[in-house]
Amino acid sequence: MNNTKTASRIAGLGIALPEKIMTNHDLEKIVETSDDWITTRTGIKERRIADKNESASSLAMPAVTEALENANISPSDLDLIICATSTPDRAFPSTACTIQQQLGAGNCAAFDISAACSGFLYALTLGDSMIRSGQAKNVLLVTSELFSRIVDWTDRATCVLFGDGASAVVLTGSDGKSGIVDSKIHADGRYADDLVAGSGSATGDVPEQRYVTMKGNQTFKVAVNTMSSVARKILDNNDIAIEDIDLIVPHQANIRILNAVAKNLGLDEKKLFINMHKYGNTSATSIPLAMYEALAEGRLKRGDKLLLVAFGGGFTWGASLINF
Ligand code: ACO
Repeated sequence: MNNTKTASRIAGLGIALPEKIMTNHDLEKIVETSDDWITTRTGIKERRIADKNESASSLAMPAVTEALENANISPSDLDLIICATSTPDRAFPSTACTIQQQLGAGNCAAFDISAACSGFLYALTLGDSMIRSGQAKNVLLVTSELFSRIVDWTDRATCVLFGDGASAVVLTGSDGKSGIVDSKIHADGRYADDLVAGSGSATGDVPEQRYVTMKGNQTFKVAVNTMSSVARKILDNNDIAIEDIDLIVPHQANIRILNAVAKNLGLDEKKLFINMHKYGNTSATSIPLAMYEALAEGRLKRGDKLLLVAFGGGFTWGASLINF
């Protein structure tokens, strides 16, 4: 895809974070780890943990309300709801259907997608395509992740990495200037066993299989290579130099991954937005949560050239180029 004109734009953003903060020092009391190890290996200082009564849909609802208000769009104007989550309320109905019902959004289409930490970019690409093709005018993208429910709290190699959080983004028709210029999404199922969570028809009913397992070193290397190459490709395809990008908002998994990607791309690290120290890896929520904070802090402004880059289980990865 090499689109010269934009078709959809981000009209509203919202986030929802659990109140409970778990610091690295709190984790020192649960597993054999240290604030120093977690900080130097990952860049994470604290993460949010959802209350036990919370579900993916309930966590997301305040974010959805905020995004719709920002976009000045009512639930009945929505044509499609896509929810990216690795911790859905249930196998079915989709979390998107539950959100639709709670919103009173009529009978618009609603479904979930599973692309782990790349879920937001998969949802953005799909939503943009639906608007480009004329099948939808207003699309709600939701991410809601409760990794605290699927990490093994006795496994120090994984439980220190993740946090909970939700986001919502309203996509609507472009005004011709601001909007999504191009997106690329990829997957390579050969790495399916390197980053896994959840029991299902392939695994049987083994309770332990709901927990996240990860080959950390392998994941790290492939993340650096794929994030660098997809970013380069989308820039080349659109004749844009890395210097012309105002801000990169990447998936927030590990500060060392992002330093390596910045080096590969020859990117000024000041253009990299980072907030993983506050939230850890919130999977599909990490990019919209970072975009929201970049906007609130004035780091992201209307008119900016924005590059989003993601990587996650599957492995999946992708990039989106946006005239914000
Ligand atoms: N505290 C203290 N020590 C620890 C911890 C911990 N929390 N975790 C592991 N260690 C130990 C290991 O046991 C090992 O000890 P040993 O040398 O005695 O065997 C040592 O630290 C080094 O372990 P490594 O796994 O080699 O550490 P590494 O430097 O590779 O960092 C990490 C591990 C942070 C997980 C890194 O590999 C990483 O970030 N990987 C990528 C994660 C990622 O990108 N995920 C993205 C997608 S997530 C998604 O899609 C759901």
